[in-house]
Amino acid sequence: MNDRQVLYTSTAALTMDNPSLHALRQESCANNSRFGVTGLLLYVDKIFVQLIEGPGSAIGQLFGNIRHDDRKQG
Ligand SMILES: Cc1cc2nc3c(=O)[nH]c(=O)nc-3n(C[C@H](O)[C@H](O)[C@H](O)COP(=O)(O)O)c2cc1C
Repeated sequence: MNDRQVLYTSTAALTMDNPSLHALRQESCANNSRFGVTGLLLYVDKIFVQLIEGPGSAIGQLFGNIRHDDRKQG
C-alpha cells in the first residue's frame, strides 16, 4: 500500500554529470521497484527535487539512506 509520500529539495555536493545521473537512476530504479516505491527525481543546477511514495517502512528506510548520501549536502 502506498501510504507514505516524501517531497523534498536538496543541493548536490558536486555538479552531477550525465554518467553520474545515469548511475543514480539505474540504482534507484532497481531498488525502488524491488521495494514497491515510485516517484520522481528532478535535477537542475545542483538542485534535487524528489518525490518518493510507497509503503511506510520502505520510504522510511530509503529516506534515511538518501539523507546520508554523500552526493547531496546536509
Ligand atoms: C538525490 C538522491 C536521490 C536518491 N533517490 C533514490 C531512490 O529513489 N531510490 C534508491 O534506492 N536510492 C536513491 N538514492 C541513493 C540512496 O541514497 C542509496 O545510495 C541507495 O538507497 C542504496 O543504499 P544501500 O547501498 O544502503 O542499499 C538517491 C540518492 C540521492 C543523492
